Amino acid sequence: MIDKKALYTISQGVYLLSTVDPATGRAVGRVVDAVSQVASGDPKRVSVACMKEGFTSKVLLESKHFALTTLAVDAPMALIEAFGYQSSETVDKFLGWELAADAAGTPYVKDGAIALMCCDVFDVLDMGSHWLFLGDVVEAAVFSKAEPMTYAGYRAMKAAAKAAKAEDKPAAPASGGKSKWRCMICGFEIEVDGDELPADFTCPRCGVGRDLFQRV
Ligand SMILES: Cc1cc2nc3c(=O)[nH]c(=O)nc-3n(C[C@H](O)[C@H](O)[C@H](O)COP(=O)(O)O)c2cc1C
Repeated sequence: MIDKKALYTISQGVYLLSTVDPATGRAVGRVVDAVSQVASGDPKRVSVACMKEGFTSKVLLESKHFALTTLAVDAPMALIEAFGYQSSETVDKFLGWELAADAAGTPYVKDGAIALMCCDVFDVLDMGSHWLFLGDVVEAAVFSKAEPMTYAGYRAMKAAAKAAKAEDKPAAPASGGKSKWRCMICGFEIEVDGDELPADFTCPRCGVGRDLFQRV
């Protein structure tokens, strides 16, 4: 028996992968979480598992170069929706975001990015459902010390947003005019007087803002 939830316990981050279609010169990209560092010497190497379905993987087989940005814990959900829930085949996902380009001229989105890793693909392995792209890191930079988003944190945020939508209004305060809140990213809990967290509240453990707190 294979309980696929066991695989959800593998810690992964959330990244944007972009590349340029050599046939058209157009930038394409997708959200990926299946990223690993596979060699730390010289060269440093990463692997990215890309579903064969969709557009970016087809382009990457030809372009053989990608830019990978690590998303911050508070990266805009709209960015993940834009790059993770539609296809570059029909949509220009880069429209409306702040862009920069790596040394090879591959555009990447600056919004929500805390680091950049650019890779030349040196091998591609067939995994069945996915292509496993193996890349030499040829350029890398850190933009911010903010915490990276984790795939588990992303799933928790999605679940909380769905639950909030299902409820018409938030639950009543726990007791005596107090309310208890839990950070959707790191699980930190806090009880405060009244119905709301202060407007400038940030998680003392992981630093995210009050938008990522859910009433317990
Ligand atoms: C949080 C999240 C993680 C994802 N992780 C991966 C991944 O590791 N590999 C992959 O190929 N697709 C992954 N996807 C799905 C692609 O981003 C999605 O299918 C995208 O729309 C494909 O776009 P494209 O056709 O432009 O390539 C993920 C999506 C989300 C929202």
